[in-house]
Amino acid sequence: MPNQLDQLESEALTALDAAQDADSLEQFRVKYLGTKGAIKRAMTQLKEVPREEKPAYGKRANALRQAVEEAFKQRLSGQASQTSNVSHAKADITVPGDPPRLGRAHVITQTIDELIDVFGRMGFDVVSGPEVEDEYHNFIALNIPESHPARDPLDNFYLEPASGRPAEIDGTGTAELLRSQTSTVQIRVMQSTPPPIRVIATGRVYRPDEHDATHYSMFHQVEGLYVDRDVSMVDLKTTLFQFAHAMFGPEADIRLHPSYFPFTEPSAELEVRMQVQGKWQWIEVGGCGMVDPEVFRHVGYDPEQWTGFAFGLGIERLAMRKYKIEDIRWLFENDVRFLRQF
Ligand code: DAH
Repeated sequence: MPNQLDQLESEALTALDAAQDADSLEQFRVKYLGTKGAIKRAMTQLKEVPREEKPAYGKRANALRQAVEEAFKQRLSGQASQTSNVSHAKADITVPGDPPRLGRAHVITQTIDELIDVFGRMGFDVVSGPEVEDEYHNFIALNIPESHPARDPLDNFYLEPASGRPAEIDGTGTAELLRSQTSTVQIRVMQSTPPPIRVIATGRVYRPDEHDATHYSMFHQVEGLYVDRDVSMVDLKTTLFQFAHAMFGPEADIRLHPSYFPFTEPSAELEVRMQVQGKWQWIEVGGCGMVDPEVFRHVGYDPEQWTGFAFGLGIERLAMRKYKIEDIRWLFENDVRFLRQF
């Protein structure tokens, strides 16, 4: 008989362990400690026990009841003190709090703000254009011939048309692509605004370039367009050098280097001396030149009356020069430890 009681005790204690919330604890109480519970029943069985075993049985049954009741009480008080720890947690309100961590603008956004500020002081308004462009604005109106390597489908992100068929790069100018340059905005502005014009446009451009210290498949450009009567190369050079010195300081080394772009004549590249991967080098930060008369014809401006200059600079490279960032890839890794330095 006492064996049965041993079994009951260990069963009850195991069940108590398993009861994890208030509901199951209450079920436990009814099942084992209630007036019709298992322990009560075991006690009433005393009368069936043979006379000589009664004292031992009674003693064991009492011990069992006490053990289970005691364990149950402890569980209840343990639970209560756990909950009260949560709801009445003692806080030392004199300890200084954690300062809230403030976010910040990405270093590219900060650079764009500064560009807008510097060019704004020179009288340039800010305009923008779409990132999904068509061939007409990205190439044709910019006098970039079909045979030009910049139009190679492998050097651009052409989009699949809604029909799902491969994009037809058929020369009609309607095939869509992610713009490879912000020069598209020159066309859009001139199509909708009569001269004179003095604007910059900033935004993302896309090219399937291999990533390395100075190349990335998405980057930002700042495009400038100035159209008026009698604009000359001197105006272009003065504007770009003033900009570069305002941005990098008067001691910065900058130079213009003759180049070729189909939409400017003559054309040049703006180079800035900076350190990339530990080495000082002349790095091209963008192109510029005098707007080609052919571009004016595309947008309906009379090239006999109007002259202008344009430029397109890579914002990442400007930021790299300004903030001494030696690898363009660091800008897009989103590592806050890097980004919060700026
Ligand atoms: N769009 C050219 C590029 O991405 C850069 C450029 C060159 C822009 C000459 C201009 C320009 O506005 O006049 O390589």
